[in-house]
Amino acid sequence: MHLKTSTLLLAAASFTTAQTTSSKRGLVFVPNPKHPTDNQIWVEGASDLTWYYNYATAPSPAYQNRTQSDFQYVPMLFSPSSTFQSEIETLITNGRNISHVMTYNEPDGESSTGGSSVSPVDAATNWIAQVEPLRAKGVKTGAPAVTGGEGGFTWLKSFFAACQSQGTNCTADFIPIHWYGNFAGLASHIGEVVATYPNTSIWITEYALNNATLPETQDFYNTSAQYYDRLDYVDRYSYFGSFRSDVSNVGPNVAMLNNKGELTDIGSWYLGGKATGNKPGGSGAGRTVQSSWLLVVCVVVGFLITL
Ligand SMILES: *[C@@H]1O[C@H](CO)[C@@H](O)[C@H](O)[C@H]1NC(C)=O
Ligand SMILES: *[C@@H]1O[C@H](CO)[C@@H](O)[C@H](O)[C@H]1NC(C)=O
Ligand SMILES: *[C@@H]1O[C@H](CO)[C@@H](O)[C@H](O)[C@H]1NC(C)=O
Ligand SMILES: *[C@@H]1O[C@H](CO)[C@@H](O)[C@H](O)[C@H]1NC(C)=O
Ligand SMILES: *[C@@H]1O[C@H](CO)[C@@H](O)[C@H](O)[C@H]1NC(C)=O
Ligand SMILES: *[C@@H]1O[C@H](CO)[C@@H](O)[C@H](O)[C@H]1NC(C)=O
Repeated sequence: MHLKTSTLLLAAASFTTAQTTSSKRGLVFVPNPKHPTDNQIWVEGASDLTWYYNYATAPSPAYQNRTQSDFQYVPMLFSPSSTFQSEIETLITNGRNISHVMTYNEPDGESSTGGSSVSPVDAATNWIAQVEPLRAKGVKTGAPAVTGGEGGFTWLKSFFAACQSQGTNCTADFIPIHWYGNFAGLASHIGEVVATYPNTSIWITEYALNNATLPETQDFYNTSAQYYDRLDYVDRYSYFGSFRSDVSNVGPNVAMLNNKGELTDIGSWYLGGKATGNKPGGSGAGRTVQSSWLLVVCVVVGFLITL
């Protein structure tokens, strides 16, 4: 009886927690120098992550042994630099497959919140000198990665206008989106970007529902991942959560690791795995409300099957 129930339980549980993987998924890498083993979690086992970025122009030492075909590096020109073009050309000369680059992280934001605080005119001047030559050689370019606020839109429009007043059409092959907030807001923001820049593919390179309850945060994660996977014009996405919950600056429930460095449910789902039951911040041993509920369902299902 006991054995029979647990067998049924297992079958029902694996059915209910269908895994979803996606080739669009990548890693916003937030290195953990204190616990370097955390850095390897994203590339272990059956992880479905296909690419990463680290806000820099050099691949992360933690991934020096990864091949480009299983975990592609996407460099970023964080803020104006006179050596970007040559750095990228050196990576390519050394055999790295650099097919895409990203540019200017949150130029409309301050450095206190991770922004690069660059004027549209300065970015345009630097883009024309450093990014256009790479594009001419076939490297695909991401538009400046502005914040999700209205100020981001204004900045981006000024940037393209500044290029034109300097005699060049700065051409972006994809538009990166940053979003912190709920799903309705995210979908509306994506709609606005598509309406403003038709025919351009989109990458969502930082996103999460910040400062919300765990059920809300998980529901947002699932709904948004399914949405990205359905939309043809979303080429890639990277969830902002590759850190432990105790160091999260967007609320603990967003994190893909708990305080012990174990994958949370969202962390495991993002890598294509099953729920772990590890709660953000928790010890990792607790059973969630959902799994208690699942247990009840399974016992009932098991009972019905027995009948
Ligand atoms: C999220 O999706 C996973 C399957 O990928 C499922 O097991 C889980 O119940 C879902 N959670 C929520 C809150 O929708
Ligand atoms: C990469 O491989 C070398 C040689 O096997 C090893 O010594 C090194 O620790 C590896 N680096 C990482 C970050 O795994
Ligand atoms: C380089 O990466 C892109 C994907 O970003 C892929 O389409 C292409 O085939 C790769 N090229 C080589 C030579 O591996
Ligand atoms: C920029 O694009 C516009 C519209 O497509 C075109 O008319 C103009 O000639 C282009 N300018 C340059 C410098 O390529
Ligand atoms: C969209 O792109 C396709 C293929 O590159 C092109 O034929 C079409 O004219 C573009 N449409 C707009 C509105 O730019
Ligand atoms: C969100 O949470 C972070 C960290 O927990 C906190 O610093 C921040 O003030 C919170 N923001 C809001 C809008 O509640």
